[in-house]
Amino acid sequence: MLPVNRNRAQPRASRSWFSGMDYTDSRQKPHILGKVLMVFLLTAICIIVLKQSPGYNGPSPFSRHEPGVTHVLVTGGAGYIGSHATLRLLKDNYRVTIVDNLSRGNLGAIKVLQEQFPQPGRLQFIYADLGDGKAVNQIFSENAFDAVMHFAAVAYVGESTLDPLRYYHNITSNTLVVLEAMAAHGVKTLIYSSTCATYGQPEKMPITEDTPQVPINPYGKAKKMAEDIILDFSKNNNMAVMILRYFNVIGSDPEGRLGEAPRPELSEHGRISGACFDAALGIIPGLKVKGTDYNTEDGTCIRDYIDVTDLVDAHDKARPKKGGIYNVGTGKGRSVRKFVEACKKATGMDIKDIKVNYLSRRPGDYAEVRNPLRSIES
Ligand SMILES: NC(=O)c1ccc[n+]([C@@H]2O[C@H](COP(=O)([O-])OP(=O)(O)OC[C@H]3O[C@@H](n4cnc5c(N)ncnc54)[C@H](O)[C@@H]3O)[C@@H](O)[C@H]2O)c1
Repeated sequence: MLPVNRNRAQPRASRSWFSGMDYTDSRQKPHILGKVLMVFLLTAICIIVLKQSPGYNGPSPFSRHEPGVTHVLVTGGAGYIGSHATLRLLKDNYRVTIVDNLSRGNLGAIKVLQEQFPQPGRLQFIYADLGDGKAVNQIFSENAFDAVMHFAAVAYVGESTLDPLRYYHNITSNTLVVLEAMAAHGVKTLIYSSTCATYGQPEKMPITEDTPQVPINPYGKAKKMAEDIILDFSKNNNMAVMILRYFNVIGSDPEGRLGEAPRPELSEHGRISGACFDAALGIIPGLKVKGTDYNTEDGTCIRDYIDVTDLVDAHDKARPKKGGIYNVGTGKGRSVRKFVEACKKATGMDIKDIKVNYLSRRPGDYAEVRNPLRSIES
């Protein structure tokens, strides 16, 4: 508190911030100076000791741009394709930040990646939901990204027909959130994971990038909308954008470090590949193949299956300079029935072990998707 009866004639300049005294005693000057010096010295010693302690890493290397180092934000990096892409990026000396809400991905994949690349400044994992604009914006302000690979999405055709709003939020709205953060923080490079589901059921096969996009399920529609938003935005913002439309992704890291985690709860919603192997492993009691009356060679759907390693290669080649849109498949269509036979052969499980039930069609499915082969570099 200020003294109530202070004499107004006393000069203000003589008041001290420390003691509240209204006069300065010149005899105390050296004493105070000594104290200040002591505080200064102690602070300096603390800083030096802290800097030398093993736990002190200084400012995060993720927070600043470093010449010769490209820092990539991988959304959905705890998931199937994102984790394989991260492995490749780290092998190629990129710096990677994974953002994932672990709704579908798993910490096991993150742990494997961290074990492979434990050096500081290589990989960090941030647990966050891309639907949370504030959190996403903070992540962008605390990290110096050079590029974004946007994998994070819910991605099951069957599920999208049952819960379309979830798909529009998770895919379309969240892409908007990522784009806005990129714009606000000057990140100019984006590789976007899209899908052949944006084509729907085209009249002509094979599907090229010029095939009209007429999606027939909410998953494909949400991805198409996200693509449109990205393309519209990039036109006026000097952004390098690569949109990759994947066909059906299968396989795993050849060294067995990563793979597609079993998701028995989703086996009825899509991805014959995962469900087939889950059935072979006995994680689910049997395999349900939906639709045997399509106009195809054996009545089951035809899909173009691409190995995840080849898909990751495509990302590597697609480092966008000017941008573009590419289908990523093998050019060969295989029926679901043939896939199941191949799965049995590869796993050594016979027909009795995989109880294949051929059932009626699943809503939202298209008969055939197949992509002509051409090089992404051409
Ligand atoms: N697997 C395929 O065959 C295939 C085919 C075509 C396109 N794609 C696309 O590839 C991308 C990756 O697919 P995947 O097979 O690896 O799927 P996945 O489910 O294995 O991985 C998706 C990851 O995104 C995360 N995620 C989802 N919503 C999130 C959110 N709101 N915030 C933060 N993280 C979130 C999940 O936790 C998960 O780790 C998706 O965009 C998908 O649409 C996949």
